[in-house]
Amino acid sequence: MAAPSPPKPDAPFGLHSTGQDSAVQIADDAGPLVPLSSPPVPPAPQDAPYPEPEGEGDAEGDAEEQDFHSDSGFDSGSLLGDETDTLASSILNYRIENGRQYHAYRDGAYWGPNDEKAKEILDFAHHMYLLTLDHKLFLAPITDPQNVLDVGTGTGIWSIDVADQFPGATVTGTDLSPIQPEWVPPNCHFEIDDVTLNWTFPPDHFDFIHIRELFGCIPDWDFFFQQAYEHTKPGGWIEIVEHSVQPIADDDTMGPDHFFHLWGTTVVEMGKIFGKSFTIWSESKERMERAGFVDVVVVDYKWPMNGWPQDRKLKNIGRWNQLRLHEGIEGFMIRLLTQVGGWSIARAQLFLAEMRRELKNYKTHAYLPGTVVYGRKPLRSRS
Ligand SMILES: C[S@@+](CC[C@H](N)C(=O)[O-])C[C@H]1O[C@@H](n2cnc3c(N)ncnc32)[C@H](O)[C@@H]1O
Repeated sequence: MAAPSPPKPDAPFGLHSTGQDSAVQIADDAGPLVPLSSPPVPPAPQDAPYPEPEGEGDAEGDAEEQDFHSDSGFDSGSLLGDETDTLASSILNYRIENGRQYHAYRDGAYWGPNDEKAKEILDFAHHMYLLTLDHKLFLAPITDPQNVLDVGTGTGIWSIDVADQFPGATVTGTDLSPIQPEWVPPNCHFEIDDVTLNWTFPPDHFDFIHIRELFGCIPDWDFFFQQAYEHTKPGGWIEIVEHSVQPIADDDTMGPDHFFHLWGTTVVEMGKIFGKSFTIWSESKERMERAGFVDVVVVDYKWPMNGWPQDRKLKNIGRWNQLRLHEGIEGFMIRLLTQVGGWSIARAQLFLAEMRRELKNYKTHAYLPGTVVYGRKPLRSRS
């Protein structure tokens, strides 16, 4: 029987939340919705460097011009202000928004699309993590796990690889989107699950809990780590891999006016408005220890914005990152900018175009710092 869990924190923007436990049956229509109060959509900043192009200032206008009749990015205006939408009747009833496809279960909870292009970008990142960690799937000292959980598994690529590496383990991947392949190792399975709710797994269950790139997904990281702690076996491990969204440089090639600063602060700001921050990469150790994990180790890494470094490994990772960002930034940012920030599509596209242009500049020695943080649940838990 599951141990009592701490109360679920109020999700700042719990779009379409029903407040039930996290496990979901795929055929379950989840019943009526609790109407939520909608936060105001902030106006575009007065001194916005990407002003609305004339005659293109409103998204509904764009919609008519482009005839995106089934595109809810245009028809309902704002996700955040959408009080009366109901929970999708099927987890496959995807939302189409600005030409991209989004998850249906817990509609609006996650900023990224789940279409083929988004899946490809996630798999690029998986490859980059393998390059970064010298082809290891994790750094925690795991030897013979029985139960492994990958929270927010995405395409499930990490879970599948771990299931292959440990055929004796049961690997569970959870996500809002059912985008994982059907043919997977027999010891790997996937569940549709909202990780921000009370976890329904047995307590003291997992030998290893893995989290990667849940930035901008979690409204209360302390609650998240409490849940993870409760469901980790005594002596078991947790590992979280995250990176910053704010490029930096160690030399003087990225002056104070560089576009990358504007980019980084914009993403962080959108996360604040959304109520799910993008800064967990620098907070993981502290939050993990606060939850009770011990022997916490932080390993720093760098993802160059393109192939500018001399170092071979970093140059290779940088090239991959340039491709990932060039192809991926629309998916990373379009929902945040238009639905959360209230920007028009035209303004958002200008901003993305500027980012793509900067990504080609090898004179800027910028990178995204990141951390792999792992820790252990003590054999004797705190009372
Ligand atoms: C940036 S992707 C990372 C995917 C995967 N961890 C990886 O590294 O390849 C974030 C994933 O978290 C999932 N996600 C976001 N919010 C979630 C939530 N509340 N519960 C479960 N999954 C969530 C998204 O659907 C998406 O697949």
